[in-house]
Amino acid sequence: MTNRQVRSRRSCLAVPGSNPRFLEKARGLPVDQVFLDLEDSVAPIAKEQARSNIVTALNEGGWEDKVRVVRVNDLTTSWTYRDVVEVVEGAGENLDCVMLPKAQDAAQVQWLDLTLTQIEKAVGLEVGRIGIEAQIENAKGLVNVDSIAGASPRLETIVFGPADFMASINMKSLVVGEQPPGYDVGDAYHYILMRILMAARMFDLQAIDGPYLQIRDVEGFRRVAGRSAALGFDGKWVLHPGQVDAANEIYSPRQEDYDHAERILDAYEHVTSEAGGAKGSAMLGDEMIDEASRKMALVVAGKGRAAGMQRTETS
Ligand code: GLV
Ligand code: MG
Repeated sequence: MTNRQVRSRRSCLAVPGSNPRFLEKARGLPVDQVFLDLEDSVAPIAKEQARSNIVTALNEGGWEDKVRVVRVNDLTTSWTYRDVVEVVEGAGENLDCVMLPKAQDAAQVQWLDLTLTQIEKAVGLEVGRIGIEAQIENAKGLVNVDSIAGASPRLETIVFGPADFMASINMKSLVVGEQPPGYDVGDAYHYILMRILMAARMFDLQAIDGPYLQIRDVEGFRRVAGRSAALGFDGKWVLHPGQVDAANEIYSPRQEDYDHAERILDAYEHVTSEAGGAKGSAMLGDEMIDEASRKMALVVAGKGRAAGMQRTETS
């Protein structure tokens, strides 16, 4: 179980670290998280320059209202440790999490945890403050997702990477996030999403859905996001300003649900108290509420509070 602060991550903006114009533009967007990328959106010959662009951008600031994340390259490449060392030594103070793509087993996450601890000690940063996000992007990662999710107290989220995942399992589609043609009996991603969600929740982590690449098709984005949000996912990547409002809306509770959740919490606190008769269950309007209702209400209220929602009523 994690004691880390739960941060709202309804919209997680991907920004290539090699593009200073995008880095500049990203600051002004109303996203919950921004991740500055060193991995697949950066060409191999641009990786080194991207590291220093990212250090500069983080230290210049302007991101403080967002969760600040850097995605390093995966551990099968020759870039990972220099990515981590250069970014964390250069801008560790201004960084909230490191994202590890294509995580394959617990040992990879433990490597990142230990490396972060080493750097924090070496340069005098608070040990353990920087969190980890692990991306599940291939069959091995998914099969090991339970142990990956429990591999480090720094973990904050498990992230689905649909594009790499589809390639890894030879799914017969090139349209990321959409149903593969010929599969007409359900949702081809259901197992993967549920597997990730269970592992994340086992350790109180957030579960984040990956990108939808048809960036002009906001309706398509809404449809795909709506599915993972319905299961309980906390947010989704956004690649374009046009996807931001949709993500913030879809992964927030509806206002009426948020109000209702807060009402259940108040009512339940009252009825279980001495003054309220120390009852274990009670009626709230036409609905019977008990301890399980309180737990469900806490989830909705927690998401709403993290997203800065306000109640629209007092009783
Ligand atoms: C994201 O990294 C993906 O592969 O979908
Ligand atoms: Mg990927």
